[in-house]
Amino acid sequence: MFSWPLLGLSSLAVATAAAQQPFLQSPASFVASEPYDAGLFTPVEDLSVLSASAFTTLGHPLFPDYNVRIKKSDFCDGTVGAYTGYIDIRARHLFFYFFESRSDPDKDDVIFWTNGGPGCSSSLGLFMELGPCRVTNPDNATFNPYAWNENANIFFIDQPIGVGFSYADYGETVSTTPEAAKDIAAFVAIFFEHFSKFKGRSFHMAGESYGGRYIPVFASAVYDQNVRLIEAGATPVNLTSVMIGNGCTDWATMTSSYYDMQCLPVSVPPVQDISSCVRMKQAVPRCQDMLQASCVDKFDSIGCEAANLFCSAEISEPFYATGYNPYDVSKLCDGPISDTLCYPVTKSIGAYLDRPDIRAQIGVDPSLTANFSSCNMQVNSAFHAADDPQFPTQYYIAALLERGVRALIYVGANDWICNWVGNERMTLGLEWTGQDGFVAEPLREWEVDGEVAGLTRSAGPLTFATLYGAGHMVPYDTPNQSLVMVQRWLAGSAL
Ligand SMILES: *[C@@H]1O[C@H](CO)[C@@H](O)[C@H](O)[C@H]1NC(C)=O
Ligand SMILES: *[C@@H]1O[C@H](CO)[C@@H](O)[C@H](O)[C@H]1NC(C)=O
Ligand SMILES: *[C@@H]1O[C@H](CO)[C@@H](O)[C@H](O)[C@H]1NC(C)=O
Ligand SMILES: *[C@@H]1O[C@H](CO)[C@@H](O)[C@H](O)[C@H]1NC(C)=O
Repeated sequence: MFSWPLLGLSSLAVATAAAQQPFLQSPASFVASEPYDAGLFTPVEDLSVLSASAFTTLGHPLFPDYNVRIKKSDFCDGTVGAYTGYIDIRARHLFFYFFESRSDPDKDDVIFWTNGGPGCSSSLGLFMELGPCRVTNPDNATFNPYAWNENANIFFIDQPIGVGFSYADYGETVSTTPEAAKDIAAFVAIFFEHFSKFKGRSFHMAGESYGGRYIPVFASAVYDQNVRLIEAGATPVNLTSVMIGNGCTDWATMTSSYYDMQCLPVSVPPVQDISSCVRMKQAVPRCQDMLQASCVDKFDSIGCEAANLFCSAEISEPFYATGYNPYDVSKLCDGPISDTLCYPVTKSIGAYLDRPDIRAQIGVDPSLTANFSSCNMQVNSAFHAADDPQFPTQYYIAALLERGVRALIYVGANDWICNWVGNERMTLGLEWTGQDGFVAEPLREWEVDGEVAGLTRSAGPLTFATLYGAGHMVPYDTPNQSLVMVQRWLAGSAL
């Protein structure tokens, strides 16, 4: 339904992709019948022994078909160890950046971060939002004092394959979140087995935008994989929480909220004229019925496409016609959107990542010769064609809450595309044993340095929060507030 990626933004394709990858197996394939002999395997305890000039390739007896290629890259932060590399899952290669904590890397938690799209690179999150440095011109990266590695070790991963610097040897592609989740679960298991000083550490899976679909499914795959890790004699991953920023998780509540964001003063004054709002008010229930009937209750690709075209014409296109930034309704798009995603800084990030010295320093595979793209639109289209966005992903969040995995749903209040109204409705509608308690809690203000930062509602393991003054990319717009929010969340304190 959305023509632009959910940044950090059909079943025929699923069948084709599966047919091309007969060798692709689930993480269950590494289960050993006997615990592996840890004595024969030496994990890397001290990352600083790794080479800065070349990759070190590491194998592991539990994962005979998987490797890690990693190097020291000492860039971007300057005060902590920085590492980059690939986790090679047979012919699929996932690129990651890893930064140690600025506080106590030997004790602090580990955060996994992915941007959304689907198809957008996590380098947007890294260099524009929450990473240790920000790239505002292609020649320079400047220190970010509000980076999330202030108190945590953090990964940024380009996923699925085909995105950013991740690639596949035979041009395989991924077009659904559950399929992407297999590679992520393998990635996470391999990381903790190799870099054993992080074993048992509290692990938080975080993402933005289409991350509202990715993260609940990825975290569930990591959770379920623990059973197999234990059977294989390995240490389970200590999955503690999910953090979702401006997520698109539940298409139904998000569809209705597009009306609210355009036609009601829920964040900014209405941006749409009255006659358009009246038309849209009538179109919303019809759009929801069509999506439910053709994309959800059963998947009829022609009917689903027609539903998406109708919803797009009646709900999204009138918004795009206003010229407002879909990621921040308080601003006009600094575009064209097809060139800048409304943020010209994305072009500087691309140019920085096209510098041969930077590519050499971070170890981008030499087979990747094309210019960097913030978002791979083929991956994006394949997920839409597979009907991936219309899955009711909130069920995964409810299931994680039932198992004691905490969930922080935070939302920049000015975003349109995965907005706070839809996210609040999603959290209130979540069916879990703590639902009544959560719904009974009022929204209250939360503060940073004595200033109101937004609204929050919390009960047990579930917290919903808004951030005033922020759009889709919360740490870009409100870096202080977002770091304080994460610090309180990691510490288990109330916002
Ligand atoms: C990069 O930015 C830093 C901090 O703003 C500044 O000190 C330095 O001179 C800049 N370097 C270049 C090459 O622009
Ligand atoms: C997981 O992390 C929590 C919080 O840091 C800690 O209390 C707990 O002992 C850890 N669990 C395991 C199995 O290591
Ligand atoms: C890559 O980017 C450079 C610099 O912007 C440009 O000159 C070149 O044409 C681009 N190459 C391709 C293949 O698009
Ligand atoms: C944010 O950070 C700046 C600089 O460290 C500080 O002056 C300011 O008080 C902080 N708090 C808020 C709410 O902006």
